[in-house]
Amino acid sequence: MSGTHAAALRRADEELARSPGGADPWRPLFHYTAAKGWINDPNGLVHFGGRYHMFSQHYPYSGEWGPMHWGHADSSDLLAWRRLPVALAPSEPYDLTMGCWSGSAVADGDRLSLVYTSATGAKAERQAVCVATSPAGGEFVKHPKNPVIPGPPEGFTSDFRDPRAFRYGNAWRVVVGASRAGKGCVLLYESPDLASWRLLGVLAESDGSLGHMWECPDLFPLGERWVLVVSPMGVPGVGSMALLGRLEDSGARFVIEETRVLDFGPDFYAPQTMEGPAGRRILIGWMDHWKSPDPPTLASGWRGAMTVPRVLRPGPGGRGLAIEPVEELKSWRHEGGDIAVGGKFCAGAADIEVELSAEKGSNGRLEMTLRGSPDGTRGVSLAWSAATGEVLLDPSRSGPAARKPCRMTAPARGGKLRLRAVLDRCSVEVFAGSPPDSVLSCLVFPAPGDDYLSVAVTGNGLRMAAFRAWKLAPPR
Ligand code: FRU
Repeated sequence: MSGTHAAALRRADEELARSPGGADPWRPLFHYTAAKGWINDPNGLVHFGGRYHMFSQHYPYSGEWGPMHWGHADSSDLLAWRRLPVALAPSEPYDLTMGCWSGSAVADGDRLSLVYTSATGAKAERQAVCVATSPAGGEFVKHPKNPVIPGPPEGFTSDFRDPRAFRYGNAWRVVVGASRAGKGCVLLYESPDLASWRLLGVLAESDGSLGHMWECPDLFPLGERWVLVVSPMGVPGVGSMALLGRLEDSGARFVIEETRVLDFGPDFYAPQTMEGPAGRRILIGWMDHWKSPDPPTLASGWRGAMTVPRVLRPGPGGRGLAIEPVEELKSWRHEGGDIAVGGKFCAGAADIEVELSAEKGSNGRLEMTLRGSPDGTRGVSLAWSAATGEVLLDPSRSGPAARKPCRMTAPARGGKLRLRAVLDRCSVEVFAGSPPDSVLSCLVFPAPGDDYLSVAVTGNGLRMAAFRAWKLAPPR
């Protein structure tokens, strides 16, 4: 990166630090974005040296995709991120044309190593696994033996990417997204030193219903089971999935017992997790999508955000998954609580909770408008039907680049349903259930001044047992 460009980035970052959001109406307050440029997948999530680190697929020179760099940021609360210098840039014959694609980070004493995909060739037809290491927080140096895994084994296509390294027993292991015979799969390798790797085999593979390529695999234990997160290509309407199951054959084979869609919204893809202190499993996704329309933020020179970090736990009775925003978000709550609704509320970040009580046979509906205009003609509508259990988010009346309506199912349990909407200046994330197990993420670009909030319950047999809403701002 040139000195002038680095200085411009530093200035943009300093300006944002002085006035988060600034004059840019859609700049999020607590969702990570690049100061300038494009981001996609979160990479290298790791708790290291007492702080949370997040890297990201990043093109610093424009809001459009370009040869990938790794952006870098760290945080003590997962919400206020400090931007750090770019960690990886294309520089070697093996990563020069397409760049440094997704991967992971592992801490080894006071060294941090990035295990990433190098992509080269006009169509990224050469993909390989590479390593770069930073001794005690210094610059990342690419390994002289790169690429440490030069490509996929015989019989697999050239799609071979997104290495997720982890410690298993006394060795390093890595899962890599791959494809063979039209089916997505995950390859597993083992190494004593992150430099020389031995193929252990195919850890898991689609049965034909789960896409032709699995991007961004992640593998971790959760409660009594193991979870394999994948972003399958070629499954209409499905972004990223959690496959829940068990490991067999000394951890070399993953047996799928249950599958879950991680997020039903249009702007969620390629999530990764990290283990925080006390074993907390934290997931962050890319809040945008390859298929999403161009956002108006391109005019300010940036595109892409990360989701609010989410904690994963086993669902009730060990089945499914509970997914909710990290606890830290509660300390960002200011002004609010049991507020009177139906008027001007907030154009910035907010956290809104609704508790509903539904009688058997209720035909009631909850109807909310988020970020509504004063005259009621614009807004994002969020509705729930007691009869069908369907949550509907309709952003189509909310401003430029509006997404299509999106849905998920969250039936009342024991006559109760909890809905939580987490808003930032260009996003809505909805968590439904108690504990929440259905989630959707959607970018919205409301006009300045569209800060009205309304809520109503219609039909029979449905009651709002509680309504609470807070503005969100950094803890004082
Ligand atoms: C997922 C993905 C990865 C790849 C990266 C490139 O969104 O396609 O598979 O490594 O993005 O930026």
